[in-house]
Amino acid sequence: MYRAGRRLGIELLGLQAGDQVLDIGCGTGLNFALLQKEIGPSGTIVGVDRSADMLKLARRRADRNGWTNVILIEADAVALAPTEVSQRIAEQGGREHSDASFATYALSLMPDWGIAWENMLALTTGTAVLGVVDMQEPTGPFSVMAPLARLACWLGGSDIHAHPWTAVERDCGAVAAASARGAHLQIRVGRLTA
Ligand SMILES: C[S@@+](CC[C@H](N)C(=O)[O-])C[C@H]1O[C@@H](n2cnc3c(N)ncnc32)[C@H](O)[C@@H]1O
Repeated sequence: MYRAGRRLGIELLGLQAGDQVLDIGCGTGLNFALLQKEIGPSGTIVGVDRSADMLKLARRRADRNGWTNVILIEADAVALAPTEVSQRIAEQGGREHSDASFATYALSLMPDWGIAWENMLALTTGTAVLGVVDMQEPTGPFSVMAPLARLACWLGGSDIHAHPWTAVERDCGAVAAASARGAHLQIRVGRLTA
């Protein structure tokens, strides 16, 4: 159901081999395999999540796959201090500022997602690519599925009305948009301009 959003989002990021990509609210690392295909072993994934249990599973996934280029940071995306997180990334061999910042199905869980977005910006270079994949109510012929989508989001703790991809539209240039599953999944990717 949700893999389509990850796949479309990561395609649109247009990552290059060697890039460092931040995965905010990375959970168990479901984006990692697709990201690895783009950045290769010379790139770096920085997964940030507030849940130590999720990060344990993400580390297990990285170890199982032999990905030695994964840095995991336990931090609240809303409350974190970007300079401190940048320092922790550098201490683990990464660069202080990432080439890309990506959040899938995570920002809508954060009541103050606007602050998390600002932190995503602060942790990237001035010309980074930013991507958000999240959920809204399905539309058109798929609107019959809206009650189910609302229930799924409610059970998962997401605000289906948060629409955090609007920040990409507001703050980035060359914004690419895609959707899937009857517009339930919304994908936006854009680039910061220096
Ligand atoms: C629905 S999961 C999505 C995980 C992953 N991005 C994916 O696509 O499978 C949401 C994740 O966001 C994390 N999360 C929620 N609020 C957070 C916050 N304020 N700071 C950091 N992580 C947060 C949760 O711990 C969880 O791992």
